[in-house]
Amino acid sequence: MATPKTPPSLLLLLFALLLLLLPSTAATRAASSPSPSPTSSPALPPPVDRPGPSALDPRQLSALQSLGFPAARDPCSSSPSGTGAGTGAACDGAAPFRHVVSLALADCGPDAELSPTVLRALSTLRSLSLARCPRVPPPRRAPPAPLAASLRSFSCSGSLRRLPGLWVSRLRNLTLLSLVDVPVLASAPSIVISQMPHLLALTLSRANLSGPLPHHWHCLRLAHLDLSSNRLAGPVPTSVNLLASLRSVDLSSNSLSGPLPDSLGDLLALRNVSLSNNSFSGPIPASFAALSALARLDLSSNQFNGSIPASLAELRGLRVLNLENNNFQGVIPFNASFVARLESFKVRGNANLCYNKTLLSPKLKLGVAPCDRYGLPVSPPPPPPQRATRSDSSDYAEDGGDGDDNGGGKGSDGGGRHGPNRLVLGVAIGLSCLVFLVIFLVCLSKVCG
Ligand SMILES: *[C@@H]1O[C@H](CO)[C@@H](O)[C@H](O)[C@H]1NC(C)=O
Ligand SMILES: *[C@@H]1O[C@H](CO)[C@@H](O)[C@H](O)[C@H]1NC(C)=O
Ligand SMILES: *[C@@H]1O[C@H](CO)[C@@H](O)[C@H](O)[C@H]1NC(C)=O
Ligand SMILES: *[C@@H]1O[C@H](CO)[C@@H](O)[C@H](O)[C@H]1NC(C)=O
Ligand SMILES: *[C@@H]1O[C@H](CO)[C@@H](O)[C@H](O)[C@H]1NC(C)=O
Ligand SMILES: *[C@@H]1O[C@H](CO)[C@@H](O)[C@H](O)[C@H]1NC(C)=O
Repeated sequence: MATPKTPPSLLLLLFALLLLLLPSTAATRAASSPSPSPTSSPALPPPVDRPGPSALDPRQLSALQSLGFPAARDPCSSSPSGTGAGTGAACDGAAPFRHVVSLALADCGPDAELSPTVLRALSTLRSLSLARCPRVPPPRRAPPAPLAASLRSFSCSGSLRRLPGLWVSRLRNLTLLSLVDVPVLASAPSIVISQMPHLLALTLSRANLSGPLPHHWHCLRLAHLDLSSNRLAGPVPTSVNLLASLRSVDLSSNSLSGPLPDSLGDLLALRNVSLSNNSFSGPIPASFAALSALARLDLSSNQFNGSIPASLAELRGLRVLNLENNNFQGVIPFNASFVARLESFKVRGNANLCYNKTLLSPKLKLGVAPCDRYGLPVSPPPPPPQRATRSDSSDYAEDGGDGDDNGGGKGSDGGGRHGPNRLVLGVAIGLSCLVFLVIFLVCLSKVCG
């Protein structure tokens, strides 16, 4: 109703400014673009070179809406997120209709379902990811063939009540498969991956998988293998050396056992190896000395035995070496300069292991005893008696980590001061409240009276 009362002189000034500015911006555009159209008036914004917003395939649009995309928004203009950060889609530029090529769903609504109709409609997808959608029911039928042929990347984290391994196994063109915190129904991982020759990265973690590791590998270009936190059992097969491109292996927190095959030393691209929390036994294969790219080796919490190979010191790239909680024995074959090169070196929890006092300083607090001149521990390794006597069991559970120094001493001190401190504070607060109350009452009586 109330029109802004701008003085006409001000309007004139603005107009003049606009006139001054427009030709100059047009000139800079003309300088930067090779073919300025001479007919376009300088007052109009230049045409955007994106083709007009051609519409998304209507079938795909309704499939996306049934998965919870707001009807008012163009799904294609929602940012593609890919890594499960949020809900989003990416589309191609096809005409007359665009198609969805990448879809990420996160925190799905109650009605989201990968029904056969929805999956058929979305057969142009190359990448599909679900995150934190635990109530989405498992897909009911085999994935439609066009989707199986198109899909290159499938990841699912904390989503789907369960997922049949056979369903996943049909996605034969995958290069990336990641199922984390999803109960996968399969008697062994090989059911899932035996027909995926193009896989580069495979993660099946916290997927309730049991059975043995695969013996026949079809994905010979695999670079990343993570089967951690399942219930896998049995040995690492010798055939693992077929995976010549493997850069990282995580088999931690399973029930794998037996000695490691020498053939592991053939995997020259290996950088990260974690085999912690299994029941592996026997020695570290001497062939590990050939793994010149190795940066992290975690063999903690197994039953490895024998002596630690001195050849590990020749691995120039090694940064993390964790041999905790095993049955290694004899003298630690490393000197101080090797240990200084590492970011982390852990050996505690090996009762028959000891260190050479002329090579390593006790200040390193390795948690093993020094050796006598026969290469045996002089005394049982520093036991944790002070810790064991503390009644606090949750603190004790933390002891698996490192460091005597940040241990319980300070913590229990603090606990000791806790009681008195609180008491004094309480009394002080109570007293000051009382004083304020009295002052308030006195003032009140003065004002009223
Ligand atoms: C995998 O992709 C290729 C080319 O894109 C296609 O010809 C082939 O049929 C696909 N494989 C499967 C099993 O769908
Ligand atoms: C895990 O697998 C076992 C059988 O292998 C089954 O009894 C159990 O219900 C599964 N757990 C989940 C969460 O699916
Ligand atoms: C190795 O592990 C480190 C730390 O977990 C990680 O940053 C790095 O990307 C991993 N490298 C490979 C090849 O997986
Ligand atoms: C390592 O343990 C195995 C049994 O698990 C045993 O046969 C072997 O002799 C042990 N090796 C050493 C060096 O103690
Ligand atoms: C430590 O050991 C490495 C490898 O065994 C060796 O090359 C180096 O000279 C040693 N350094 C010292 C200070 O003894
Ligand atoms: C400790 O190291 C020194 C120097 O390398 C060596 O002479 C000595 O034999 C070693 N002691 C043991 C018990 O291995």
